Amino acid sequence: MNNEKGIKIKMSENNNDYINRSKELINFIKESPTAFHVVNNFSKMLEKSGFQKINEKDKWKLKTGGRYYVTRNDSSVIAFTMPNKQNFYNFQIAAAHSDSPSFKIKENPGMIEDNNYVTLNVEKYGGMLMAPWLDRPLSVAGRVIVREDSGLKPVLVNVDRDLCVIPNLAIHMNRDVNNGIKYNPQKDMIPLFGEIASKDKFEKIIAMEAGTDADSIVSADLFLYNREVGKIWGADNEFMSAPRLDDVMCAFSCIKALTDNKENSKSVNVCAIFDNEEVGSTTKQGADSSFLYDVLSRISMCMGKDSEDFIRACASSFMLSADNAHAVHPNYKEKADPTNRPYMNKGIVIKYNANQKYTTDAISASIFKEICKKVGVEVQSYVNRSDIPGGSTLGNISNSHVSLNTVDIGLAQLAMHSPYETAGVKDTEYMIKAVKKFYETAIMADEEGIYRLIG
Ligand code: CO
Repeated sequence: MNNEKGIKIKMSENNNDYINRSKELINFIKESPTAFHVVNNFSKMLEKSGFQKINEKDKWKLKTGGRYYVTRNDSSVIAFTMPNKQNFYNFQIAAAHSDSPSFKIKENPGMIEDNNYVTLNVEKYGGMLMAPWLDRPLSVAGRVIVREDSGLKPVLVNVDRDLCVIPNLAIHMNRDVNNGIKYNPQKDMIPLFGEIASKDKFEKIIAMEAGTDADSIVSADLFLYNREVGKIWGADNEFMSAPRLDDVMCAFSCIKALTDNKENSKSVNVCAIFDNEEVGSTTKQGADSSFLYDVLSRISMCMGKDSEDFIRACASSFMLSADNAHAVHPNYKEKADPTNRPYMNKGIVIKYNANQKYTTDAISASIFKEICKKVGVEVQSYVNRSDIPGGSTLGNISNSHVSLNTVDIGLAQLAMHSPYETAGVKDTEYMIKAVKKFYETAIMADEEGIYRLIG
C-alpha cells in the first residue's frame, strides 16, 4: 500500500494472518456477550468440526477416534478427542474460563427515580474496574427460563441494541472527582433505562427477545454488557481492544486448537472451559466442581479401564491452565516485577508463584517451553512483585479435584477486568499454535523420570 508520499509500506503476509485471527476473535466476542453465549458459540464451532454432543445424564458410548463435547449449566463445556487406537496413555488438557466480570440484573430490577426515570437494579458479578462502565452504551444478555406447555425451557437472550447507560455525575457537582472517587455499586453504578412511561418495559423487552410474553418468563440470569465492539489499533496495528479478552482470548484459542488438532495416538485431548472463575469457581459448573473429574473418569470407564488405570493415566497427564496475564503497563512500569516483564505481542506468558497460586513448577514450565520451541512461539514469564499480592486462577483449584502436572499460562494484556481490555494483535495466533502443538505432542514420562515429548 502507498502513503501520501508514495513510499511503499509492505504489510507482511504474516501480519495479515495475525490481524485476520484477531478479527475472528473480535467477531466471536461480539456474538458472545455472556458465558452462556460463549459456550453456545463454542458448541457451534465444535459441531462444525465433527464433535458430537453428549449429555451427562445419558449412558456414554465413546468410539476410538471419536470427537465429543459435554456442557454443564450451558455455561461450561468440556470437549475431547479420543485417540485412534486403544493404546490410551494419558489426558492432555487445556483449560480456560468462559465468564468475565459484569453486573447481574437483580430480581425485580425496575426502580423509579424522581417520578421521572426508570433505572435497573444490578449487583456486581466478579471484581471489575467500575469507572470504565460509566458513560457508554450497554445492553443486556443472558438466559431466561420460559414456561411452555411442555415444561420449563432455558432460552438465550441478547437485546442486541443500545439499551442503557450508567451516567457519570457532572464535574460541576463533584469538583473533587479527579482526585479519586470511591464507587458505591448500589448508588453510582445503576444504569438508566428509560423514562417513567417505560416502567414495565424491561420484562417486555426481554420476553420479546425470548419469543414469548412477560408472564411466561419464570426466572432469569441476565447481565449487562458493553456494546463497544472490538477494534484493532496502534501505529502499526499492534494492539486490539475488546470486551472480555480475559478470558475469551485464551478460551477461543484452546477450542480452536482442539478443533484443528490432528491425531495424537496416545492421548485423550481435552479442552475444558469453566464458568464462574471470576467469583471463585465454587459452583457446580466451575473449576472447583466435579465436572472435569467426572468427564475424565467416564472417558476412562468407557475405554474399559479400571480405577487403577485411571489413576495411572492421571499420573501421566498434563494440563495447561490458560488465563490472561498482566503486561507491563507503560504508565505504571513500577507495578511489574523487576526481572519478569511480559509485553504484548512478545509471546505466551508462563506464570509463577512461590505460594503455588499458580501451579507452574520447573517440570511443567520446561515441558511447555519445549512445546513452544517446537513451533517457534516465544515465551515470557510473569511473577508478582513480592510486595503485591496477585490474582488467582483455575489451575490450582482444578488440581484439588484432578491432580495433574500443570502449567499456568496466559496472554499479556492491559486493563484486566475493565469492560474494554487491551491485548496484542499477534497473541491469539501464538496461543493457538502452541496449544495445537501441545495436543499433537504425546508427553510421556519413563521410569527414570525422564519426560519425552513425542510428535
Ligand atoms: Co481470567
